[in-house]
Amino acid sequence: MLNKKQQALCDVLAIQFPIIQAGMVWVSGAKLAAASAEAGVMGLIGAGSMKPDLLREHLKKAHTLSTKKVGVNIPLLYKDVEAQLEVCLEEGVDVFFTSAGSPNKFTKKLKDLKKTVVHVCSSPGLAKKCEDAGVDAVVAEGFEAGGHNGRDEITTMALIPQVVDAVKIPVIAAGGIVDGRTMAAAFCLGASAVQMGTRFMLTKESSAHDDYKKLLLSASSDSTKLMMKNLVPVRLFKNQFFKEVEALENLGASAEKLEQLLGKGRAKKGMLEGKLAEGELEVGQAVSMIKDLPSVSELVPKLWQEYLKTLATLQAHH
Ligand SMILES: Cc1cc2nc3c(=O)[nH]c(=O)nc-3n(C[C@H](O)[C@H](O)[C@H](O)COP(=O)(O)O)c2cc1C
Repeated sequence: MLNKKQQALCDVLAIQFPIIQAGMVWVSGAKLAAASAEAGVMGLIGAGSMKPDLLREHLKKAHTLSTKKVGVNIPLLYKDVEAQLEVCLEEGVDVFFTSAGSPNKFTKKLKDLKKTVVHVCSSPGLAKKCEDAGVDAVVAEGFEAGGHNGRDEITTMALIPQVVDAVKIPVIAAGGIVDGRTMAAAFCLGASAVQMGTRFMLTKESSAHDDYKKLLLSASSDSTKLMMKNLVPVRLFKNQFFKEVEALENLGASAEKLEQLLGKGRAKKGMLEGKLAEGELEVGQAVSMIKDLPSVSELVPKLWQEYLKTLATLQAHH
């Protein structure tokens, strides 16, 4: 069922299904990444919210929970990046998904060490830069995605074919992919794999707070909006904090004003501690399509079955 490029990418990542459980601050720790690895997909620990020592703990814990390869997502915008990278190298991590920074920063160093490197991009131009920097694959992340986002609002539907045409390396589609139908769509557009964030946040093993998960299960199609484009664009759930951001932005707030409102620890408060009014709640636009909270071992085979069913439906129409 996999084409050559998909199979080659699965082989490089040592996974059975062409699915990546996205790295997510406060949400994807050892438990989620190990469960994903065990289920045959790429499990990523989200290092962005972890001090180097905590990251080491999560890497060690993941090894006790799964014998399979677990990777790490490192956003390059935080101050601990170098130390996080060192910890990963000491703990024997082989797969690095880097984001939010230049692909030139660490790719060569990691490739010299024979590591697998994937960088996240949100435009065909940046995808080309990633390829030139020597990465093994790119994640092309569209406007629908949860978390930090590109400024240009290129949707997954418009982005994936353009990135596929711009580079020769495999393209991993992200943003709005939550079930077998959306997976099939991404593969039709030329993606070699899919990366899912919001879908894996709504599993038993994610470390998002239970109250946050409950809130998300009642989301509707207009529950999220891309905000803070003057600072770092991020897709937010429309809670009290969102309203405060919106009010400031309507007054034409500067980056400094937004930074002041954001303060420290907002995302932790909201997503990990479940303070749903004052916290920053990051989530993708397709969250309203998700109505269950399975374990990862239930989710992955279900996704694949749905995908195969979608393919069969397409073929039945010929
Ligand atoms: C709560 C949350 C936290 C995220 N944190 C990160 C992160 O630390 N690094 C990163 O590269 N992407 C991050 N993302 C983006 C995801 O890796 C992924 O690309 C995105 O969720 C895909 O869109 P989807 O949510 O529609 O599946 C985050 C997404 C969410 C929902």
